[in-house]
Amino acid sequence: MSSVPLIEELVVLLLCGQEAAFSYGGVLNVSAQSTSDQEFKNIVKETQRKKETRLRRRQAPEDPLMVKKREQLGHSRRVWHHMTQALEAGNKELAEGKHHNLAKVWDIVLLARNLLAAKEVAQDLAAEEGFEAEVRRLLHICIEHASKPLGAEQDKAAHDKELQTKGGYKKIMITCLQFINNLITGNETRKLHIWLHLFGTPSSLHATGTPPAKPKAKPTKGGKNAAKPPPAPGSGVGSISVPPAPGVSVAQHNETAAKCNSLSAGFNTKHYKPGFLTNIPRLLQPDEIEPLLIIIQSGVSQIPGTDESMQAVRCKLMLAQGSGRDLFREILVFLGAWEVDEDDFCHIVLTQITEAILLNGLAPYAYESFKSDGLEIVTPAQSVLLKLLVSVYKEPRRLRHPHRTAQQDEEETPILQMDKTIPPFFINAFRKSVIDEIIKIVRLQGEISKGTKSKDEFTWSLWDLDRIYEGVYQFLELFVLFSEDHEVKADMAKDWGFVGNIIQLLGEMDKAIPRYLASKDTKRDPPKTGASATNATAAAGVNKENHMVERPFDLSGDLPEEPAEDQTQDGYDDDNDRDLVEPEEFTWPHVKRFCVNIMSNLTCIDDVIPNKEVQDFVREHDGLVPILNQCKYDDDNPYIREYAIICLKGLLGGNLESQEVVRNLEAKKVEVPEEVLDRNEYEHLIDNKGRMTMSKRDRLERNGNGDRVTEVKQ
Ligand SMILES: *[C@@H]1O[C@H](CO)[C@@H](O)[C@H](O)[C@H]1NC(C)=O
Ligand SMILES: *[C@@H]1O[C@H](CO)[C@@H](O)[C@H](O)[C@H]1NC(C)=O
Ligand SMILES: *[C@@H]1O[C@H](CO)[C@@H](O)[C@H](O)[C@H]1NC(C)=O
Ligand SMILES: *[C@@H]1O[C@H](CO)[C@@H](O)[C@H](O)[C@H]1NC(C)=O
Ligand SMILES: *[C@@H]1O[C@H](CO)[C@@H](O)[C@H](O)[C@H]1NC(C)=O
Repeated sequence: MSSVPLIEELVVLLLCGQEAAFSYGGVLNVSAQSTSDQEFKNIVKETQRKKETRLRRRQAPEDPLMVKKREQLGHSRRVWHHMTQALEAGNKELAEGKHHNLAKVWDIVLLARNLLAAKEVAQDLAAEEGFEAEVRRLLHICIEHASKPLGAEQDKAAHDKELQTKGGYKKIMITCLQFINNLITGNETRKLHIWLHLFGTPSSLHATGTPPAKPKAKPTKGGKNAAKPPPAPGSGVGSISVPPAPGVSVAQHNETAAKCNSLSAGFNTKHYKPGFLTNIPRLLQPDEIEPLLIIIQSGVSQIPGTDESMQAVRCKLMLAQGSGRDLFREILVFLGAWEVDEDDFCHIVLTQITEAILLNGLAPYAYESFKSDGLEIVTPAQSVLLKLLVSVYKEPRRLRHPHRTAQQDEEETPILQMDKTIPPFFINAFRKSVIDEIIKIVRLQGEISKGTKSKDEFTWSLWDLDRIYEGVYQFLELFVLFSEDHEVKADMAKDWGFVGNIIQLLGEMDKAIPRYLASKDTKRDPPKTGASATNATAAAGVNKENHMVERPFDLSGDLPEEPAEDQTQDGYDDDNDRDLVEPEEFTWPHVKRFCVNIMSNLTCIDDVIPNKEVQDFVREHDGLVPILNQCKYDDDNPYIREYAIICLKGLLGGNLESQEVVRNLEAKKVEVPEEVLDRNEYEHLIDNKGRMTMSKRDRLERNGNGDRVTEVKQ
């Protein structure tokens, strides 16, 4: 039974032993050393929570004795002093490649991480005694070792040994990140300091709408950014000039700037190496990257109890600095490469980080800065950013205000308003660099299938197409969401260039990309009704709120096993049962459906009044036939038949010229679905207030005979 007062003595003694073992290996005989290591491990265990195995994120209640031990140790300057000394010695060994010290070093960092759960006093001591700086150095060492390429031409034993060593460095790396999170929790000063360490100290900071110099496609290995000389210690970060966020008064802005300067004073530049985290996402798996994401989230998101203005400053600091953008880009690429699910913790946290970026007006800036120098029309990082924006807009989180009570929060909190400058930016980005390219590809596909062009002319690989597709998909999904916002929709419906693009895209797809029927009688999933979507949203919302607290890491065994070597992602396995081997046969699933959804929303004002201008425009630009052609089942575009019928009703409602066009098509034996043709219903679509109505029957009816339809030729 280790009594609480004595534990401090024991830990100091053990730490001295560890330090000696690092510096003068062999000073203790083997059995004494292993006893001491074991004793140290026990203390690490005694200072952390038991792991709750069944429910991963539920923390076990705190054991009062454990809490007491943590405080006893965490509040002891001597303990932190000796931990620092021991870690310094251990770092020196690891830096020289003496990997056998890994386990000992890990235990020290684990202990430190656990002790930080004792909050302020422990945090202060960890910083003052220099332990924090040693952790940053250790992180750097770990990243270097973990990212070294494996030696070639080894025998199996040597290969396994090397993998194991790398695994050891990765584990320490993750614990270091957890340590950093625990260190900065709830302390503005330290959050800012760690930001300066991660992303560099700007002399001035202008994260405005202009894109930065293009970031390199591949991050440089830890080098370039570190070349900048660190500022003189204690000088602060000079004049941080942050552009005021929308709705922030000059006085408030001045106050923030002043706060920033005072908080950044006393910045410890020991082991200052901004950019050193950039490669981390390449080394980790989704479970492992969580602490890094939580550090960023706790620095930029509007978490209850944080200083909103400082969270905004850090959000800008991150994106204004090359190493911040590099790291964020790598995280996005990581998320895309692992094809992380939307209800995955990583995705949820990144959505909140993206929301912070959006709220600070920096989403366009981020998008621009993830451009590539090469030919890619949408880079993987840009696609993931779009996807995250879709998630943000899908479930606008109720913004919390720090001075509101939880009850007030529940009653009435402002919902994230769509910033009206955002849709035009992304629409322009799409029109400027995406639409022409995709139409070019689709046309060529059409010509190849007609036989007027040779396959050899199709130079895109499936891999190229997959990346382009990812971008197009995310853009269109985002536009569908934009088109559900009444005000934004009104602007979109006036952007004839955009409306024209969508009609054109649908037309080209209609001509070139055949429909696909997996099987005529396979069961289809029930359509996603509004109700079930809301239910899913509500569930995710609850989930989200749980992640919006600053919390310490103090669980043991929370590190996943080493990955199997071949556990890399490969894109095409679960896509479809079909074997799409020829790139020119790529079918762009969901693209037609998104186009129909967008058009459907744009054809009415406030959901009910037909928008005659849009109706006329679609007719005049030959948009009716392609939409008519979508009134058929297509397993690449689920429920497109139902969507197209709704869309056509919107396009024809109250518009005699357009109805005439459809009647003429029918006279030419073009099949038009019953629901659209029902002449009486045109009139019934408009109620006596001139508003459009739609019967429920039509929306739900889907026992249709879509498969016997002949294609309409234009
Ligand atoms: C190591 O030291 C312990 C106690 O200090 C002693 O009992 C043991 O015999 C020593 N072992 C060796 C192999 O020297
Ligand atoms: C926050 O950190 C600073 C130094 O980094 C320290 O002086 C201060 O006491 C800390 N504040 C709290 C509330 O822990
Ligand atoms: C804000 O700061 C600027 C420059 O530092 C100064 O000119 C201006 O008077 C300040 N405004 C307020 C309201 O404090
Ligand atoms: C949500 O869906 C579940 C089944 O998935 C159901 O039991 C529950 O009642 C639904 N909740 C609401 C609010 O509709
Ligand atoms: C937009 O379309 C979606 C489905 O396509 C529909 O649920 C939504 O109500 C429409 N919104 C507006 C404003 O038309």
